[in-house]
Amino acid sequence: VVVIECRRAGEGITKNTTAKITSQHGLIYKKLLTYKGEQRALEYAMANQLAIQKYEEIIDELQIDCDYEVLPNYIYTLDNEQKILQEVEAAKRLGLPAVFTRETTLPFKVKAAIRFDNQAQFHPLKFLDAVADTLKIYENTRVTQIHKSGLIITDQGSVRAKHVVIATHYPFINVPGFYFIRLHQERFYLSALEGENREKFNLDGMYLDADPDGFTFRKYKDYLIIGSGGHRTGKYQPPDAYEMIEKAARKWYPNAKVKYRWSNQDCITPDSIPYIGRYSVRTPNIYVATGFNKWGMTSSMVAAMIISDMITGKENEYRKVFIPRRLMLSGSRVLLKDMAIITISLLAEHLKIPHDRLKDIERGKAGVIRHNGQRVGVYRDNNDKYYFVTTKCPHLGCKLEWNQNELTWDCPCHGSRFDYQGKMINNPAMRDAFDVCIKKKRTHD
Ligand code: FES
Repeated sequence: VVVIECRRAGEGITKNTTAKITSQHGLIYKKLLTYKGEQRALEYAMANQLAIQKYEEIIDELQIDCDYEVLPNYIYTLDNEQKILQEVEAAKRLGLPAVFTRETTLPFKVKAAIRFDNQAQFHPLKFLDAVADTLKIYENTRVTQIHKSGLIITDQGSVRAKHVVIATHYPFINVPGFYFIRLHQERFYLSALEGENREKFNLDGMYLDADPDGFTFRKYKDYLIIGSGGHRTGKYQPPDAYEMIEKAARKWYPNAKVKYRWSNQDCITPDSIPYIGRYSVRTPNIYVATGFNKWGMTSSMVAAMIISDMITGKENEYRKVFIPRRLMLSGSRVLLKDMAIITISLLAEHLKIPHDRLKDIERGKAGVIRHNGQRVGVYRDNNDKYYFVTTKCPHLGCKLEWNQNELTWDCPCHGSRFDYQGKMINNPAMRDAFDVCIKKKRTHD
């Protein structure tokens, strides 16, 4: 087995996760029972519970020092007790360790919460570091093509494999598979606080608000990590995500100081279930693991268990719910919204809509100008230096949007991101966002 990695292993999404190892993925079980039926809901629940056990086994076996702590996980609500009661009932029916409670160690009162015992948190990079020692990894090697025959072309040479697993966060092969019409990406912002007295920071577990606009909490050593401000990449972004988190934090922890800030990006499926299994019916030896819906710790372990069983010819009793080609009744609204956003964004890139004048762009901000009949994104830094990128996404041509929180150009269609100089940060795009015409005038004093 070899791993081919375009940058350094662990450099991507995993390093920014809150690393909650839990089968409690928001309020998912009521939804699964309603739309997928008892059998599929059970497969989802049991696969994720097994993933928690698997982490413990690997950590024990390899004696990995990765700050692994067994803790309860909570989903709380400030206003809708009914939905928590329904979720507790659904989770219990599936044999999950669910308890209804109003008692938490959060710094505010909640209306109700659901607690799952014996879940866990850890330091994902310490875990990866130990696991990576047992693997052969080719870093700084970008895969550019994968053929049905198992021939893999990279920028450093080619490899031939009997089986290929595409675990590139967002799959970069558009056809077959067509993941670009059934997967979008979302961003989320986090701050790590320190300096509050230990009593106050002392959470007994990991917490997440059932409301998507609410907050997530977990402790790491003397730090408290708080996150919020989630939105679709390239759309609906709050102009001040970090300020919003830190304003709330100051209210709850007045003595705390913000030590770190960062953001993360997740692939979202319309029905909230990952895609794990064959990449497409036309590629029997190519597999996919994607769409973890912000629950990448257990979902990646589930993917590892299912795909390794498929390759070694073992039956896996939990795999059906994750089959990538499935009916998505529960996701049809999200699918339609995704299609509408893609259509609007593609059109916007080609329409002659009004644009900014270079001299009107403020320092530290960005705008879109017209140059040689083409739309060009311009960022003006605080020293009056201008940076030019194409606003046409190199993936499939949607219109890139400026993200003032992170000084990046983000694509609302599938979530590719580029820094203000046009350098690619997140796939599925395979190249930077500048072209020949812009290259000539990329920077301009
Ligand atoms: Fe697909 Fe931009 S990420 S068009």
